[in-house]
Amino acid sequence: MCGIVGYVGQRQAVEVVLDGLRRLEYRGYDSAGVALVAGGALGLAKKAGKLANLESALGDAVLPESTCGIGHTRWATHGVPSDRNAHPHPSADGRIALIHNGIIENFGQLRGELEADGVQFASETDTEVAAQLLGREYALDGDLTEAMTRACARLEGAFTLLAVAADDPDTVVGARRNSPLVVGVGEGEYFLASDVAAFIAYTTDAIELGQDQIVTIGRGGIAIRDFGGDPSEGRPYKVDWDITAAEKGGYDTFMRKEINEQPTAVADTLRGRIDESGQIVLDEVRMSDQDFRDIDKVFIIACGTSYHAGLVTKYAIEHWTRIPCEVELSSEFRYRDPVLDRSTLVISISQSGETMDTLMAVRHAKDQKARVLSISNTVGSTIPRESDAVLYTRAGIEVAVASTKAFLTQLAACYLVGLHLAQTRGIMYADEVKAVLDELVATPDKIATLLKDMEPVRELARESAAFGRVLFIGRHVGYPVALEGALKLKELAYIHAEGFAAGELKHGPISLIDDGTPVIAIVPSPRGRSLLHDKIVSNIQEVKARGAKVIAVCEDGDDITGVHADHVIATPASPTLLAPLLTAVPLQEFAAELATALGKDIDQPRNLAKSVTVE
Ligand code: G6P
Repeated sequence: MCGIVGYVGQRQAVEVVLDGLRRLEYRGYDSAGVALVAGGALGLAKKAGKLANLESALGDAVLPESTCGIGHTRWATHGVPSDRNAHPHPSADGRIALIHNGIIENFGQLRGELEADGVQFASETDTEVAAQLLGREYALDGDLTEAMTRACARLEGAFTLLAVAADDPDTVVGARRNSPLVVGVGEGEYFLASDVAAFIAYTTDAIELGQDQIVTIGRGGIAIRDFGGDPSEGRPYKVDWDITAAEKGGYDTFMRKEINEQPTAVADTLRGRIDESGQIVLDEVRMSDQDFRDIDKVFIIACGTSYHAGLVTKYAIEHWTRIPCEVELSSEFRYRDPVLDRSTLVISISQSGETMDTLMAVRHAKDQKARVLSISNTVGSTIPRESDAVLYTRAGIEVAVASTKAFLTQLAACYLVGLHLAQTRGIMYADEVKAVLDELVATPDKIATLLKDMEPVRELARESAAFGRVLFIGRHVGYPVALEGALKLKELAYIHAEGFAAGELKHGPISLIDDGTPVIAIVPSPRGRSLLHDKIVSNIQEVKARGAKVIAVCEDGDDITGVHADHVIATPASPTLLAPLLTAVPLQEFAAELATALGKDIDQPRNLAKSVTVE
């Protein structure tokens, strides 16, 4: 949440910083700003609205000779999105400018203290407190790194800060606590950013920073210290994807591109994790077979779409391993005093690996001595780093705010973990595990087949747009898919969309149905689990009897559902537990098309951010 970029090198800083902000805009897009330094001057511009607004308002701030600067794209926490509240924030004397991602929790107390000292504030943000504090410290000795170290000692909460000083055109100083910050190392140039996407066009050499570190990039190199002022180190690594992954590649939106990347993303996530004999090899997770055997309870914690992946996983883990599994929203988990101990496995699911609610839940689980296994799409991010074990999904960068390919790869990774648990504990025979894995490995091709024929789904979406409300129903793993379908539609189209366990309809929600209400039913396979299938067919009849227009997402050849539903979206045959890898796909397309029909920006829906680094 909030994207930040810093640069020192030989290139024109304004270009590099704006380029970086363009790639980080998914992190927040309610306002943006830059601060550039050259010849003892500080050029500062900030503007409410998307980056394009800033670009047309840069004016004198550009300082064409500047090769050192910072930039910010905001998702508002304290203070409405406005020019005034946009970052960077200058200090009262105008000598330094600062940008921030996170929340400074003791800002009220610090603001009172600074105001008592005569400092006048120009915004309602918590960030300005850090800028004024840093300005006061900088005035003492004119050393930006020392000033940042002293300022950080006063701050509480979550923050990544970057600052520049008017009279130091060679330096950007950053600080990191609980929010992300990576360093990019080029030839005689250095970058600081919330995410490598900001500098991947210039270098693939990166350094991951640790908790409570301060980093100074200058023309002579980089220096890292801890908050106590002692020298420290980061972890160098090579970014293994290139700039094309962060571009639309011929699609009109990132979301459409990412939906279509799902077959590859799922296949990549499975690749190398299943050996020739059909056993799962998860050596990389850093947990021994004995560790897996010691587990007697599983908790899954996650937010948003990742939470829905967790809900699906519960069905798989309990069925395959017979270990009790609970799924909880990260933001609720630690306030409920969950019962955890050494034999509890906590699985955290987070695409970004930096969602603050999930990070705090992971820390709580670790405090209670539980083992934490993270499933994440972001190598080196905070949650995997703080976990005992990690399994990375390999979705590649996901730029659209609404998660699609990350969701499917999370499911694939969770299935692997569930089967691995069953395998190591001897609950499933090797041939049983192999049979499921064969099905799993066959899924990417089925997703590709499904994606080839999305026009009927789009047409249904356009027809449903006029209604302004869509309900989703499902049973078993179809229930979390219904929740996910509704979430996608809420996020993108800003209409009332809700997912229900189909059996619950009669206990209240059925009163929402009136003439023409679109109801999307996720129907399980008629093969094998026919009881489940029959039950949802009854639910379809119940809503139809009350006027609903039913769109059924069901298995290809399911004639029974075909008779009762108004429309059918057919998905390739799949075992019940794996079906979400297929049934979720048309719902993504449905939401994207319906929102497009309503004229919405599907990559950057209002009020949202992709990476939510505040609680
Ligand atoms: C935000 C995003 C969602 C995402 C959720 C959890 O709300 O808009 O798409 O599912 O955060 O993010 P995570 O990175 O932890 O999976």
